[in-house]
Amino acid sequence: MNDTLYGIYGASGCGRGVMPLAASRLAARGVAPEQLVFIDDVPASPVVNGHQVLTFDAFRARPEREKLVCLAIASGTVRQALAAKLDAAGIGSFSVQAENVVIMDDVIVGEGAILSPFVTLTSNIRIGRHFHANLYSYVEHDCVIGDFVTFGPAAKCNGNIHIHDHAYIGSGAVIKQGRPGAPLIIGRGATVGMGAVVTRDVPPGVTVVGNPARPLQRKGN
Ligand SMILES: CC(C)(COP(=O)(O)OP(=O)(O)OC[C@H]1O[C@@H](n2cnc3c(N)ncnc32)[C@H](O)[C@@H]1OP(=O)(O)O)[C@@H](O)C(=O)NCCC(=O)NCCS
Repeated sequence: MNDTLYGIYGASGCGRGVMPLAASRLAARGVAPEQLVFIDDVPASPVVNGHQVLTFDAFRARPEREKLVCLAIASGTVRQALAAKLDAAGIGSFSVQAENVVIMDDVIVGEGAILSPFVTLTSNIRIGRHFHANLYSYVEHDCVIGDFVTFGPAAKCNGNIHIHDHAYIGSGAVIKQGRPGAPLIIGRGATVGMGAVVTRDVPPGVTVVGNPARPLQRKGN
């Protein structure tokens, strides 16, 4: 019996995009397909795309000696809550990386990352836990990225940018480079809307949209 059970936590769009990447990487290491399952606390179906779907409790109850999970849920806040649940259960994380990801020099990425196809991380980069870099996104040189940060497809993070925990960078957004010693900062929990062109710091918790990006004005505010 293979003694490790691997779980992709989340069987919605994000998880279904991550599963094939995990399956091909694990198959190359000799892991049997049935040792890779979805975890979903409200399963809509017992099997999704050929993989069994287990609740977290059912996953925990499986007999394999070691269990590892990749959190495939877009919300960084939800990922943090689930990471705490994994820690409490003594379950570790694994990362998933597409075969064509390019990683250059001196790049450190924390546990549980998801690096989708065509992602590039260039040089001298630090990234925290449970980072998601969706299709075609990139991180340029000298960036520092916190924990539970999410990049939508084709998000462009240029050099000398610091992105704090839980920030969400929408699809196609472009963030202007900072300078050595004076990075451009995306604050904790900030959201950059899809297609935004960010030219200056974004304060914590603020949503910006447009070109140049400005705080989203909601009707009635
Ligand atoms: C910015 C964002 C977070 C706002 O979401 P929201 O709070 O649900 O906002 P709404 O959809 O209610 O839109 C509010 C207003 O902002 C506008 N708006 C929303 N997103 C915008 C964007 N990216 N750029 C410009 N305007 C935008 C809407 O047109 C709307 O304008 P109105 O009030 O004049 O009608 C969201 O639209 C977004 O861009 N999310 C990222 C999506 C993404 O990248 N997904 C990747 C999936 S893998």
